[in-house]
Amino acid sequence: MSVLVLADLHLDRWLSEGRDPFAALDPDLLASLDALFLAGDVANKPKVRWPKAFAHIGKYIDLRRVHVIPGNHDYYDFVLDDELRLAKLCFEHGPHLAQRSVYLNGGLRILSCTLWTDFRLHGDPATAMQVAQANMNDYRYIRLKNAGYRRIRPLDTANIHSDHRMWLEERLAEPFAGRTVVVTHHCPHPDLLGDIRREVDPAYGSDLRFLIETAQPEAWLFGHTHYHAETTVGRTTLRNVSLGYPDQVQPAEEAKFLLRGLIDLSAQSELPA
Ligand SMILES: [Fe+2]
Ligand SMILES: [Fe+2]
Repeated sequence: MSVLVLADLHLDRWLSEGRDPFAALDPDLLASLDALFLAGDVANKPKVRWPKAFAHIGKYIDLRRVHVIPGNHDYYDFVLDDELRLAKLCFEHGPHLAQRSVYLNGGLRILSCTLWTDFRLHGDPATAMQVAQANMNDYRYIRLKNAGYRRIRPLDTANIHSDHRMWLEERLAEPFAGRTVVVTHHCPHPDLLGDIRREVDPAYGSDLRFLIETAQPEAWLFGHTHYHAETTVGRTTLRNVSLGYPDQVQPAEEAKFLLRGLIDLSAQSELPA
């Protein structure tokens, strides 16, 4: 009885290099999971590469138990504003789209969404948006269907962040007599973005400590940075559960990175150390 949350599989990159990250895991563990949450960056080009990624994952686990939260890469060569199409892609191939989704299993509640960022991390959102637009592929490879298929801008993703954050605030404010785990692609804490401060950090994470301190979920699991950091805020464990690109992961490290987000439903609480 367990749920595995993992982010940043970038499975298109792994398979093109002839590596299979799941081969490092006990197949019985994968097959026995109640649910597998993929917290973003499954593969670029979802219309072409999600079906291939799902077919591969389906060798290890019944896809009806797989929940997909889109990351920024999952919108590449696609549009930001057609999640119905992403839901349909999931429906046709087996897994569930878990965008603004509430998963309930016994005493466990998982709230999931992409999240994006508010660009406020360094106190100057206007500059942070300019830096992101000039430097991040998100603003080159993702388009907006309802605006003549123009390239997206940081204000577009900031608006989605606002929607997703409000949705999380509302769900977390609802009484729930059990364990709550939040799963997002983007980072909710300023100290978990990397060893050095970078100009693009506001496109990777936001400071949601007030929300975390107020709601105190058991855990908040995320990805996007491929930086394996964790911390606590009050009773909440915050942990990056990225796998990352194949050139960032030594063969002996795959299982360690893949299992950082294993939630044991028979235990009262706590993630693996
Ligand atoms: Fe990623
Ligand atoms: Fe990402």
